[in-house]
Amino acid sequence: MTIDPKEFRNTVGCFATGITVITTVDVDGAPIGLTANSFTSVSLDPPMVLFCLDRNVASFDFFAVDKPFAVNILASDQMDVSNRFAKSGPEKWDGFEYDTWGSGVPILQGCLANLECRGDSIIDGGDHVIVIGEVERMASAGEDVKPILYYRGAYGEVST
Ligand SMILES: Cc1cc2nc3c(=O)[nH]c(=O)nc-3n(C[C@H](O)[C@H](O)[C@H](O)COP(=O)(O)O)c2cc1C
Repeated sequence: MTIDPKEFRNTVGCFATGITVITTVDVDGAPIGLTANSFTSVSLDPPMVLFCLDRNVASFDFFAVDKPFAVNILASDQMDVSNRFAKSGPEKWDGFEYDTWGSGVPILQGCLANLECRGDSIIDGGDHVIVIGEVERMASAGEDVKPILYYRGAYGEVST
């Protein structure tokens, strides 16, 4: 069967996900970040997570083994944050405040959860790579804070 790329995208888009902004820093310590819905947990012991990184994005060169990155899981009121980091260019950080923990990578405010990780391995995945990280620190909001969802190319919210 020949797989049409558009139909493939539509088909995998049937899988509802949350949305994250993955952050790190460049060689000068300037913030790097991109919206990603390919996040998942990998291992409980040791605690590991992954996301898939497009080989063609500007952020590509800034993720590496042993380098820190953060996964910022967006809350339902952060659609603007998702849209901001789904664009290319350093101006996406203009006027955008964030915290840092031990490693110095941006920890976004107002998220449902944040995980600070260290790059463990980077695996080939076609036109993407799979970035696996070990979680070193994390925090999450109370149950009153709900996630933003992504389903069939559109944003949504949980209805409970
Ligand atoms: C909902 C959503 C999910 C996305 N998920 C991913 C992803 O998992 N991996 C990825 O590399 N890009 C993903 N993107 C695209 C990047 O956010 C986009 O290419 C961004 O411009 C990359 O920033 P950069 O060019 O500054 O690196 C997603 C975009 C949206 C809107």
